Amino acid sequence: MKTLLLKVNEENLDPAKIQIAAEIIQRGGLVAFPTETVYGLGADALNPKAVLALFEAKRRPLDNPPIVHIGDPEEVYRLVEEVPAKAALLMDKFWPGPLTLIFKRSNIVPKATVAGLDTVAVRIPKHKVALELIKQSRCPIAAPSANLAGKPSPTTAQHVYEDLNGRVDAIIDGGSTNIGVESTVVDLSIDPPMLLRPGGAPFEALKKVLGDLVLHPFVQAEQELLLQEIRSPGMKHKHYAPKADVILVEGDVQAVIAEIGKLAESYRLKDEKVGILATDETQVVYKADVVKSLGSRSNLRAVAQSLFRLLREVDAENVDVIIAEGVSSEGLGLAVMNRLRKASGYNIIKVM
Ligand code: TXA
Ligand code: MG
Repeated sequence: MKTLLLKVNEENLDPAKIQIAAEIIQRGGLVAFPTETVYGLGADALNPKAVLALFEAKRRPLDNPPIVHIGDPEEVYRLVEEVPAKAALLMDKFWPGPLTLIFKRSNIVPKATVAGLDTVAVRIPKHKVALELIKQSRCPIAAPSANLAGKPSPTTAQHVYEDLNGRVDAIIDGGSTNIGVESTVVDLSIDPPMLLRPGGAPFEALKKVLGDLVLHPFVQAEQELLLQEIRSPGMKHKHYAPKADVILVEGDVQAVIAEIGKLAESYRLKDEKVGILATDETQVVYKADVVKSLGSRSNLRAVAQSLFRLLREVDAENVDVIIAEGVSSEGLGLAVMNRLRKASGYNIIKVM
């Protein structure tokens, strides 16, 4: 399949280019597009054949459903059985934005779109390109992140191209995404609501609105969960894994620096190529083949924004091991730490 590349400018959208992409969606094709979080790979959410092609293109396990993207809060009512009062509160405050809500699904949502579950994940993205595509396609758009399953989510069209060129009909290039980690997923089909995946909408802000919000143990897990503890299919699959081994070192900064220095040295002695994901405050102290900074430890927005890009960049240098520094779990840090722990396959060293 030849993949069409459509370059657009978010500030000065060319509707004709979006029209081309919308027509592909309408005839059951696959289009990658930018959102404010990461790039998504879109298909008509009400067309089971198109959704199955989506799983195929990503090599995604069939039991892990995508998020359904809509353009207007009114559209949620036909996709779900009921909108609990707490959901309405969150929709009001956080939509459009990086928050996905899980509802009991209505009958118009095909089984393929929800991987056989009786719930559906819905969000309104805050990105002009995504919203224009949904509008012109005139259907809800099912879109998982536009990476091959297991790889870091794409934050540029180039990342999508690396993973999916020749496997999808079109890629809309709208530049780098702003938030850099995926949306927060909150399950409102149960009470109290439960946060299943930390992401662009911080836990603290959601809790303020809801009062009661439980963190699923997986969110901060430091080891693999038992199967019976899983509430979201995405929890059981391998994620964000670079080719290299990843080691995450967490704890007090000075102790982290010392431990990473020692680890890097031990790999060097074995003649292995070492990459370090450091921070602005620490990057100068390390000796390694590749050292990159995620950003300042006090700017977790910047760290989230660069995380997936840097995981790909360090991996592209063909290092044998990537050693990453942990950061604070506040605000967007919760999502960053969750992704780093998963990327490490829970290969975590704690120091004090
Ligand atoms: O920011 C994002 O959320 C991006 C952009 C493209 O919107 N999308 C994204 O989709 O990250 P994906 O498919 O990579 O992640 C969706 C997550 C998975 O962990 C999946 O298991 C979970 O949402 N999910 C989907 N439907 C669910 C459901 N009915 N119940 C529980 N979890 C669900
Ligand atoms: Mg994904």
